[in-house]
Amino acid sequence: MFDVQKVRAQFPILSQTVNGKPLVYFDNGATAQKPQVVIDAISKYYSEINANIHRGVHTLSQLATDAYEVSRNTIQAHLNAKYNHEIVFTSGTTQGINLVASGFAAFVKEGDEVMVSALEHHSNIVPWQFLCEKTGAKLVVIPMNEKGELIISEFDKLLSDKTKIVAVNHISNALGTVNPVKYIVAKAHEVGAAVLIDGAQATPHLRPDVQDLDCDFYVFSGHKVCGPTGTGILYGKESWLNQLPPYMGGGEMIKEVTFEKTTYADLPHKFEAGTPNIAGGIVLGTAINYMNGIGFDNIARYEQELLDYGTKRLLEIEGLKIYGTSEHKASVISFNIEGIHPYDIGTIIDKLGVAVRTGHHCAQPIMNYFNIPGTIRASFAFYNTKEEIDIFVEAVKKAQMMLS
Ligand code: ALA
Repeated sequence: MFDVQKVRAQFPILSQTVNGKPLVYFDNGATAQKPQVVIDAISKYYSEINANIHRGVHTLSQLATDAYEVSRNTIQAHLNAKYNHEIVFTSGTTQGINLVASGFAAFVKEGDEVMVSALEHHSNIVPWQFLCEKTGAKLVVIPMNEKGELIISEFDKLLSDKTKIVAVNHISNALGTVNPVKYIVAKAHEVGAAVLIDGAQATPHLRPDVQDLDCDFYVFSGHKVCGPTGTGILYGKESWLNQLPPYMGGGEMIKEVTFEKTTYADLPHKFEAGTPNIAGGIVLGTAINYMNGIGFDNIARYEQELLDYGTKRLLEIEGLKIYGTSEHKASVISFNIEGIHPYDIGTIIDKLGVAVRTGHHCAQPIMNYFNIPGTIRASFAFYNTKEEIDIFVEAVKKAQMMLS
């Protein structure tokens, strides 16, 4: 049984006050809060086994290496990847995308096409623009409709044998739309294109099965799944990771170095140059185990209740418009109130203890599509409650009164 009060008790930050009011944390799309088990695991690592990995013969180095590799195996199992060497530790989603986009210069030439969608975060646009600038390839964009859904019939038409890679998010950070990624992968593969899925906003809400999706790359961030900041995962199919050139040169990623020639280490170490965020990588495994302990079925069911309730309550407010009205949505509500700047609402409700994100959410093309400067975004996690939604709605009403 999912008991939200029991869950909340595991997150120390949730019981604090902000600006003299109980914290209502609705900025989970930006980063998730951390349960005690994650906080303790960081402390335990530094108190008991801190050492560098894959290097020393000494006991602590071996303990740290084992813990790091256990975490890799945990993430492999979580994503249902075929091999543990298909799991590369990164600093986050952004690094994962940059790694792939940079390496893809080896497979893309002038006249080829690189496809993204109108729903992307800047981190899944800019690295592909770098790639296009470097190679002369063209950036092609899958358009969206008024509900914030990708127009799949247009995607079908845009695909051709010029398409070399399609990079789309699983869930939109700004609107919450869940994209039909399995369909996108299948269609892209028909023309021989690879597919990268940005799972940054999906992994807090669902458990992706990379073999079922058949995607070539799947990337996500640790801090959005209750893990430490500065951690992330790039999943890549073995065949692609073997073909991609290394992203960074340095220690750990080599087999042999001479001044004449260097050969690279086997997967996944070829992509893991330098001393990584060892504590972060280990504790990301702790966080994934924690989320699986809560259960993604429970998370999805409960967050859907929060989404339905929050949508209904917000729509009571006159002049309020929700952006992103797809039937397939995660627990994210982006909205504006007629005649009021989103930033002003965000600032006032912060004084009432409510944390939301305001602005363009690193997705300026979406804001341009709707012709707005930004939105107020409430993003719910499994530890939020309907009572918090009531506090939030009252705070928004109060802000509206003050600003009208
Ligand atoms: N990408 C994060 C967000 O959507 C930071 O807020």
